[in-house]
Amino acid sequence: MDDRIIDGKKKLKEDEFDKNIRPESLLEYVGQEEIKKNLEVFIKACKIRDEVLDHVLLYGPPGLGKTTLAHIIANELGTNIKTASGPSIEKSGDLAAILSTLEPGDVLFIDEIHRMPKYIEEILYPAMEDFELDIIVGSEGSSRSIKIDLPPFTLVGATTRAGDISSPLRDRFGIVCKLEYYSNDELLKIVKRTSRVLDCEIEDAAGLEIASRSRKTPRIVNRLFKRVRDFALVCGDGIITKEITMESLDKLKVDELGLDSIDHEYLNSLIKKFNGGPVGIETIAASIGEEVSTIQDVVEPFLMQEGFIKRTQRGRIATSKAYDHLKIEHNTSLF
Ligand SMILES: Nc1ncnc2c1ncn2[C@@H]1O[C@H](COP(=O)(O)OP(=O)(O)OP(=O)(O)O)[C@@H](O)[C@H]1O
Ligand SMILES: [Mg+2]
Repeated sequence: MDDRIIDGKKKLKEDEFDKNIRPESLLEYVGQEEIKKNLEVFIKACKIRDEVLDHVLLYGPPGLGKTTLAHIIANELGTNIKTASGPSIEKSGDLAAILSTLEPGDVLFIDEIHRMPKYIEEILYPAMEDFELDIIVGSEGSSRSIKIDLPPFTLVGATTRAGDISSPLRDRFGIVCKLEYYSNDELLKIVKRTSRVLDCEIEDAAGLEIASRSRKTPRIVNRLFKRVRDFALVCGDGIITKEITMESLDKLKVDELGLDSIDHEYLNSLIKKFNGGPVGIETIAASIGEEVSTIQDVVEPFLMQEGFIKRTQRGRIATSKAYDHLKIEHNTSLF
């Protein structure tokens, strides 16, 4: 499958663009009001007490602002941030190397923390609780365990799958934040902020149109903005108008609810070829020439969350919302 513009997951080449438009303070960070309010209090309190902030776990779907928030926490604390990702910490030495670079009060950000190997997790427990590292050195027969004192630090862990985190690890985070999807108004604020930072004019109506097709996700709103900005520059006079936006989003095949062509193929197949289901995922996947895993991981979650399809024991079924959206007549007497 080609890269999808409306996929919330991060793409490597986005790094530079991302860095420029990332908010750097809680004040600039749009939405997630409850999380912001709480963090503000906790950060102030630990500054007054001259203690380190408790460990923070951030979880929620891709592109909702976990990495951004981790950097903001360090900024607000006025400390450095060191980053690592769960799967890249393979040996106890890797973890020791990262931990030994920490200075008092630093933030250690571990992304995809659910993908950290189990035995690394166990070394992390005493590091989180007592700022102590117990590692085994030497070869078999002459190995011994040594304890290293660490400076007090704050671990910020991020994950898209809270369910994959073991409960002993989860219990060691004093602050747990679940990021929520964004409203269209919040996404409009984000897209307007991005346009200000990039010095590109955008009409409110255009911003709202982009917002409403962005699957409630800041990463997608910024990505669509970037593409529409290209159309405005090449086909217009650089200003992002509602008209240019409508045309560009049509060309990008992102419909008014944020569904793209593969979503349409999926729903069309389910409704037209299989009478709306129930039908097995393998059968649908084969009918539109996609991998089962792609359908499962990247197509169905949004369709399910938005109520276009339902999963039953006998397979997937299309809901009346799907029929209505595709403007296909729905014979409700069958239900
Ligand atoms: N609350 C927000 N206000 C403004 N911009 C935001 C906000 N949240 C996210 N963004 C923007 O959305 C983009 C994606 O955010 P970020 O990389 O922090 O998501 P993430 O949750 O870490 O995603 P992943 O799970 O893929 O790692 C960033 O470029 C950031 O600028
Ligand atoms: Mg991230």
